[in-house]
Amino acid sequence: MVIGVPKEIKTLENRVGLTPAHCADLVKLGHKLLVETKAGEGSGFLDEEYQNAGVSICQAEDVYSGADLVVKVKEPLEKEYSLIKKGQTIFTYFHFASSRQLTEAMIKSGAVCISYETVEKSDRSLPLLVPMSEVAGRMAVQKGANYLEKHNQGRGILLGGVPGVKPANVVIIGAGIVGTNAAKMAAGLGANVTIMDINVARLRYLEDIMPANVYTLYSSQSNVNEAVKTADLIIGAILVPGAKAPILISRDMLKTMKPGTVLVDVAVDQGGCIETCKPTTHENPTYVVDGIVHYCVANMPGAVPFTSTLALTNVTYPYVCQIASKGWQKACRENEELKKGLNVVNGQIVYKKISEAFELPYSEVEHHLS
Ligand SMILES: NC(=O)c1ccc[n+]([C@@H]2O[C@H](COP(=O)([O-])OP(=O)(O)OC[C@H]3O[C@@H](n4cnc5c(N)ncnc54)[C@H](O)[C@@H]3O)[C@@H](O)[C@H]2O)c1
Repeated sequence: MVIGVPKEIKTLENRVGLTPAHCADLVKLGHKLLVETKAGEGSGFLDEEYQNAGVSICQAEDVYSGADLVVKVKEPLEKEYSLIKKGQTIFTYFHFASSRQLTEAMIKSGAVCISYETVEKSDRSLPLLVPMSEVAGRMAVQKGANYLEKHNQGRGILLGGVPGVKPANVVIIGAGIVGTNAAKMAAGLGANVTIMDINVARLRYLEDIMPANVYTLYSSQSNVNEAVKTADLIIGAILVPGAKAPILISRDMLKTMKPGTVLVDVAVDQGGCIETCKPTTHENPTYVVDGIVHYCVANMPGAVPFTSTLALTNVTYPYVCQIASKGWQKACRENEELKKGLNVVNGQIVYKKISEAFELPYSEVEHHLS
């Protein structure tokens, strides 16, 4: 199969769909690789490394016109719509439900769109979202520590304290992938960590495996109200699948917090769990409301493309191999996880939530697999 890897054109997106090492493995399996010039540069991979892996370096037009399977990171942008061919398979993050324009463009293209974010395991976990949550959770503490510094408008407190001086209080709301990774980092730095969730089984598990400076707490509204009063760093890490995050920190609650407290709302991409949260960018990541520093970057992993590209491609690569060696139909017939990734096929929406979001016609995925 011919596999294409274009350069990402979304602002400040430096990740790439496949690394030179993965390309080399695909070439060994007999596939032909077309990689756009400079596609890997933002993640530290040069054209020469791709060439040494047996890849042909070319322009974006040639990648799209030559490839049967296109492996990307972000959803196609308007400039890319016309490059996508009928019958071509596109494997990337699409987040269709947030864009009618993209959905209609992909329906019109006649392409086969397999979305990273809806590939789903039998236990309902989303394997292609996990690594980005791991990155964001770990970064949340790194960023929080930085914005707690006085010159960044924070309280001027060191997370781990020093001998004779208490460490900072870190409150993490949501104990999933983001929250657990944040807790590990904050605990490692010596902070006094409270991690909250409504899932008691999850809290029980974390209580067993986390170090002694991590405390678990049920996430009732009254517990959240109390916890934020003494917090120095608060990390929002909630997810309610398929819904907007609930607001647990209202604007009024900001007045009960210590001035210079830092809020990192990682859940900003689902609307955030803090009333005063609005999406920010890496260029302008923070703003202050009532003396409280807000960090609400919606694509945190974009700041560490080297780590994020490796983390992402480690998990996407096995699926790329299956699509490349079997073709998308056989690969999806034989792998339920990948089948769940099918969103738009041959001009029709095959994922119910997307058709519902835009009141567009829905077609059973099975009709397209034979
Ligand atoms: N900003 C970014 O760059 C970025 C990157 C990755 C993930 N995210 C977002 O981070 C959020 C968390 O992702 P995740 O992978 O950790 O999800 P996850 O499903 O692993 O964990 C979410 C947790 O939130 C808990 N929860 C739900 N309602 C709650 C409540 N009222 N109080 C406390 N906990 C509650 C759930 O029980 C679950 O344990 C998502 O919104 C995700 O989209 C953002």
